[in-house]
Amino acid sequence: MKLIVCENYAEMSRVAARMVAGQVIAKPDCVLGLATGSTPIGTYQELIRLYENGLVDFKDVVSYNLDEYYPISPENDQSYRYFMNHNLFDHINIDKNNTHVPSGEMADPDAECKKYDEMVENAGGIDLQILGIGQNGHIGFNEPDDFLYAETHVTDLTENTIAVNSRFFASIDEVPKQAITMGLGNILKAKKILLLINGKAKSAILHTLLEGNITTRVPASFLKAHADVTIICDKEAYGE
Ligand code: F6R
Repeated sequence: MKLIVCENYAEMSRVAARMVAGQVIAKPDCVLGLATGSTPIGTYQELIRLYENGLVDFKDVVSYNLDEYYPISPENDQSYRYFMNHNLFDHINIDKNNTHVPSGEMADPDAECKKYDEMVENAGGIDLQILGIGQNGHIGFNEPDDFLYAETHVTDLTENTIAVNSRFFASIDEVPKQAITMGLGNILKAKKILLLINGKAKSAILHTLLEGNITTRVPASFLKAHADVTIICDKEAYGE
């Protein structure tokens, strides 16, 4: 894993956005794997800025998001579809038909998760995957457990994730108890991975990741088995 330590969140976002833009310039019809959460918002803002300045063109880009709450409607302002539209897609020239977020309204979850994986495969796989990380080491909604899933699946959220994510909802009771998420196998199939980590609260997990072994108790530790992972963090997360 390569590590880039940035001065602060703004610099981390600029560095990440340039790497994403570089991917789009090198392969205009590339497949991007996208994440939600607070971490990539600055990166998305920077990508919007690069687009507005005519430096990057998203017209042929295809995207697949990692995850979505379940159940949830795409119109719900806490859905990850809404987040992506609001924070990125509505502000760049990506064709919305080429953007994919797992459906939070699936009638047949098993079949639809399988279909999501097939769509990614048929698109040629993910060229560049952006990831954030939970304080407990989750990536996507792959939570620490005795075993992890390889494929896209429906999963129960842990009490910790429900509590952490409740900051975005009117009350903790409104946080969905389940989510659909790509599995570790899907994530590890991406050709390149950018893992963004910022803030003091993520310092412990960053160091666990850098210094620890691969374990299902830290799902992100599986990234150590991937040949092309770049961690971009800020000084607050890295420490002095
Ligand atoms: C979101 C996702 C999650 C987040 C993680 C960190 O699509 O996959 O794994 O990346 O929960 O969230 P933030 O960035 O809000 O700290």
